[in-house]
Amino acid sequence: MELLKQRIRQDGIVKGNDVLKVDSFLNHQMDIALFEEIGKEFQRRFANCGVNKILTIEASGIGIACITAQFFHCPVIFAKKTQTKNIDGEVFATQVESFTHGRIYQVIVSKKFLGPQDKVLIVDDFLANGAALEGLIDIVAQSGAQLAGAGIVIEKAFQPGGDRLRAQGVRVESLARVKAMSEENGVEFAD
Ligand code: G4P
Ligand code: NA
Ligand code: NA
Repeated sequence: MELLKQRIRQDGIVKGNDVLKVDSFLNHQMDIALFEEIGKEFQRRFANCGVNKILTIEASGIGIACITAQFFHCPVIFAKKTQTKNIDGEVFATQVESFTHGRIYQVIVSKKFLGPQDKVLIVDDFLANGAALEGLIDIVAQSGAQLAGAGIVIEKAFQPGGDRLRAQGVRVESLARVKAMSEENGVEFAD
């Protein structure tokens, strides 16, 4: 998505060799006009898939998922992160081990909101090692819902998450795929 790549080139800030800061337009301050274009593009790519639920994870996926849902005319569910060990039977729960943040947390979704009648599009801001996305996919599987795929705003294609999930047969659509980045040369895109 050219508009998004231009914005990343213009306003993205590379930290070290593997962190891309986009908090001026994507995950702290949010440019809603850009989110609208992102939502339309996800809708174009997943048109005619029968999507009736959008699933994301708190926190920074929520804004993008909500704007996207306006184009699918469907609800958004955001999975909640929790440290609670004793999860009751009312929720689907899975463990996520974030290498980026160096911690393990539980992700939960109420059983009330996902089931075999649902066709789910997962939406998130970043795909890196893919731990968060794998957790969401596990929750969809537990619920018996069908997975249409995952719409990702920025994939760090030099990290293994995207390729591993595609190899497992998951349809991953990333609007900007970063092949490499450095503080000296900025961001290089894959396509
Ligand atoms: P992981 O397996 O290494 O943990 O990678 P994953 O793809 O699950 O991403 C972990 C978290 O780190 C996600 O946020 C993701 O959005 C964020 N992230 C990964 N790489 C970058 C990056 O280069 N820049 C920025 N800005 N964020 C990145 P999260 O844990 O879901 O938290 P939240 O920010 O949504 O609350
Ligand atoms: Na994030
Ligand atoms: Na996120």
